Amino acid sequence: MSNVSNDPAVLSVAAYVLDLIKDGARIGLGSGRASAAFIAKLGERVKAGLKITGVPTSNASEKQALELGIPLVPLTEDLELDLTVDGADEVAPNLDLVKGWGGALVRERIVAAASKRQIILVGEEKLVKTLGERGRIPVEVIPLAHGYVVRKLKALGLTPVTRPVTGGTAPFITDNGNLTLDCATRDPLRDGVSARALEKAVLEIAGVVDTGLFLGTAERVLIGYADGRVDVRETGK
Ligand code: A5P
Repeated sequence: MSNVSNDPAVLSVAAYVLDLIKDGARIGLGSGRASAAFIAKLGERVKAGLKITGVPTSNASEKQALELGIPLVPLTEDLELDLTVDGADEVAPNLDLVKGWGGALVRERIVAAASKRQIILVGEEKLVKTLGERGRIPVEVIPLAHGYVVRKLKALGLTPVTRPVTGGTAPFITDNGNLTLDCATRDPLRDGVSARALEKAVLEIAGVVDTGLFLGTAERVLIGYADGRVDVRETGK
């Protein structure tokens, strides 16, 4: 069984979101620590008789869900999901997000797009004033296009670094067989307009698969605190 965090902030948001899960729901299962805590609690409910199906956003989430006996639907199906529960790496005041530090952004994007609602679980350390503040916006790139994409990202004023495997020097390879370029911005993005302009410019580069900018996708963000408190912010979508 995968290691689930014992961070009280993460555990409290994972418990809170369970109340939103109804019998029969089709649920996108995010990736990362907060999502793993949610999947663990969902597994307990499934054992107790809750009937749901899940769609995992990474090989790690799939493995965890299978170990817990959560019925899964493959991502290759034509999905219509009730909600996706996922984590994030930065949350702006308007609930725009940076995701993908865990390397699963492409599948997270597909699953979020196929869902009626995206609910994000974070600790307070993920709250930022402007996106890019924590230092990196991931961009997933087809390996053959690496050199070209690096040049184009630099021309946009970004400083891309090819992500290595954790604790090593070899490049990290995503579940889709691609590379990730972690991009520092010269300055954090001023507002939602500059975030959208950057997203558009990056997606126009040939060889870019997707970015970690998730703009306007979250319906609700649950923020966990060390004392177990949960703060709920909504976009009013
Ligand atoms: C995975 O690609 C990411 O988008 C994760 O959702 C994000 O990194 C949050 O992970 P944690 O919950 O581990 O902080």
